[in-house]
Amino acid sequence: VLAPQRAGRLAGRKVLVTAGPTHEPIDPVRYIANRSSGRQGFAIAAAAAEEGADVVLVSGPVSLADPPGVNVVRVETAREMMAAVESALPVDAAVMTAAVADWRTEADSGHKIKKDGSGRPPALVLVENPDILATLGHHPSARPKLLVGFAAETDDLIANARAKLDRKGCDWIVANDVNPETGNMGGAFNTVRIVSRAGIEEWPRLAKEDVARRLVGRIADHFAGA
Ligand code: CTP
Ligand code: CA
Repeated sequence: VLAPQRAGRLAGRKVLVTAGPTHEPIDPVRYIANRSSGRQGFAIAAAAAEEGADVVLVSGPVSLADPPGVNVVRVETAREMMAAVESALPVDAAVMTAAVADWRTEADSGHKIKKDGSGRPPALVLVENPDILATLGHHPSARPKLLVGFAAETDDLIANARAKLDRKGCDWIVANDVNPETGNMGGAFNTVRIVSRAGIEEWPRLAKEDVARRLVGRIADHFAGA
């Protein structure tokens, strides 16, 4: 018996999405985290699945339910996210919304760090995490055909987004203003611009679900050669 073909403009396409923060352990009870809610990435994964794609969503710790029809892989750290992304390859499109922690502690103390009574805080030695988007952008054998990064910025949005487009070797950057007054970070809405080598497209302030549907529509257009 043949499996029923899924309808939709992304039927037969494999799409990878990363979402959420990563947690980087300091000791068994503490970690480094950030304010990412995962909402934008979960909405993109859901929209891609609705469009018929075979979707793998690699998510850091968030309090969101699995979107219907999406294969969700839950991870904690940046290095776990990198490994889960590698094992999802090859994919047609990858959309990297995760707020990957830039740094982890050099050593995860296996025991709870205690105050030593001196009043001096311990020094946390940080090392840089792997750049998952750049790894895909420069992948020697399995670069996604369409690679989309996100850039959350509080300053110099476009200049920073363009620099990231080049440095990370991706095709589009969804530039996202996360100034606290926008409420974008962790909120229900997003004000984004799509930065590509062809130019900049400004989108109005939209619910994250609508940003997701519009982005998935653009991805389908891309594969349709539009
Ligand atoms: N990204 C990633 N792995 C990292 C850091 C970032 O995959 N270790 C991805 C994010 O998912 C996003 C894009 O890269 O799609 C841009 O993330 P951002 O934090 O804005 O870029 P950074 O290179 O970390 O620069 P910054 O110093 O501005 O944080
Ligand atoms: Ca970063």
